[in-house]
Amino acid sequence: LDYALLVAAFMQDHAQHGWPRQRMLHECLRAAIRNGTLAAGTRLVATRALAAELDLARNTVLYAYEQLACEGFVVSDRRGTVVAGAAADVAAGGSDAVGDSGTAAVPVRALARRARNLRVVPGPADMMGAFVPGVPALDMFPMALWRRLLDRAWRGLGPAQLNYGDQAGEPALRQAIAGHLRASRGVLCDASQVFITDGTQSSLDLCARAFADNGDTVWIEDPGYAGALAAFRGAGLRVEGIPVDGQGIALTAQHSRRRKPALIYVTPSHQYPVGSVLTLERRLALIARARADGALIIEDDYDSEFRHDGPPLSAMQGLAPDAPVLYLGTFSKTMFPALRIGFLVVPTGLAGPLAAMRAQSASRGRVAEQLALADFLHSGQFALHLRRMRRLYRQRRDVLVASLQEHLGAIAEVHGESAGMHLALRFTDDRLRDAEISARLMEEGIVAHALSAHGTAGSRPARSKWNGLMLGYAQIPAELIDGLVRRLAAVVHLAAYAARSAGHRLPPARL
Ligand SMILES: Cc1ncc(COP(=O)(O)O)c(C=O)c1O
Repeated sequence: LDYALLVAAFMQDHAQHGWPRQRMLHECLRAAIRNGTLAAGTRLVATRALAAELDLARNTVLYAYEQLACEGFVVSDRRGTVVAGAAADVAAGGSDAVGDSGTAAVPVRALARRARNLRVVPGPADMMGAFVPGVPALDMFPMALWRRLLDRAWRGLGPAQLNYGDQAGEPALRQAIAGHLRASRGVLCDASQVFITDGTQSSLDLCARAFADNGDTVWIEDPGYAGALAAFRGAGLRVEGIPVDGQGIALTAQHSRRRKPALIYVTPSHQYPVGSVLTLERRLALIARARADGALIIEDDYDSEFRHDGPPLSAMQGLAPDAPVLYLGTFSKTMFPALRIGFLVVPTGLAGPLAAMRAQSASRGRVAEQLALADFLHSGQFALHLRRMRRLYRQRRDVLVASLQEHLGAIAEVHGESAGMHLALRFTDDRLRDAEISARLMEEGIVAHALSAHGTAGSRPARSKWNGLMLGYAQIPAELIDGLVRRLAAVVHLAAYAARSAGHRLPPARL
């Protein structure tokens, strides 16, 4: 083997690292062993000879050989240094250094089936702008105030609070949340029932693990929230989609004959994605149903703080004492998503077992953020921020609804606009295909999810009654809304014209 050539080629390929000589030689020899150039059993050139051949100090070569020996790539005997067995990784296709991880492709078979079937999740760049749902007006968040609260929280911490935190969350935050929920959401709870989580997604994962077994059935609204679907599928549950109509989840006698659910997931205050509000009659029936089946209802109250017409509706959880309800909330909408703080309120009897489970499934910490948030709630600043955002979102919603009625009133109707940060635009002309229109809008730089894309019924869903678009408005300044709706309406009208004149297909030409 021509060591000089080997080292020269390696140095050329790795010059950008700026490694010192001994590191360069060590990496070079290691890569040669890994890719089989220096096969197991090969005797390395003596250090003095290699130093002379490469014009290096002998210590440089000694360092490299010692490093390889420490890592197990070579072994020393009385006569010198030999490449160890099983050190090569020829199957990896000649990955040139162990440190350059990721050069060898991991076979897809290595993924669990549930990980292979997940939908593509949008990146942060796809989460801004019109009409992305679920993201608040981030430019309105009081950053300076939040920085001060964080600073104050950090200054108040002692060494003990740098340890792992309380498994249910910081007591001060649990108290503050319990107080807020009792006062503004009609939730019946005390702090002992409140668990702090990393957000709703994490609460859903926890509920699925803690309150259902592999193969148990979960009912979920159809259309429904993809995050919940992913959590339930990920936990190995049997997911059954239950249709949603203008009054929320619509259970029928047919559902009573099917397998009993362990969990029932609903968004009663503002159904995701269509915006229906679950009627009182159905809420009470669902609670009775869950009691009869021994099931727990997961009430995801994700954006209910924003009710635009009339006072906020109380949560289902508070409708009956010790209702079989796991109540989920998040600060992603009321504060900002990157905060990653949400909460879960459980019936009294379940708090103990959940704390034990939590201790084994999640690490605890971020004490300063939790204390700052408790301060934000206690000081009244949270309520003030909510009031401001409510006013802002209502104004944006009013402009959007008026504009949609003006430009699209003839072929679509607005649904679910009474609360939250998004509404549903439902096509009244059945020949329109929401998925095609959504894709066409995406080419125009407008994000408007198709309602039909939120199906949860499984592999062979019936054609959904919900044919339309989901439009988030919290992020869009009011003065931009009409212009955006005009662009959106142009695409929808063109699709309607094409559907009327040439069957269901859109013409291929760009607008
Ligand atoms: C129905 C629903 N629940 C919960 C959330 C928030 O989840 P997280 O707290 O994980 O950010 C969202 C966000 O879009 C949502 O749409």
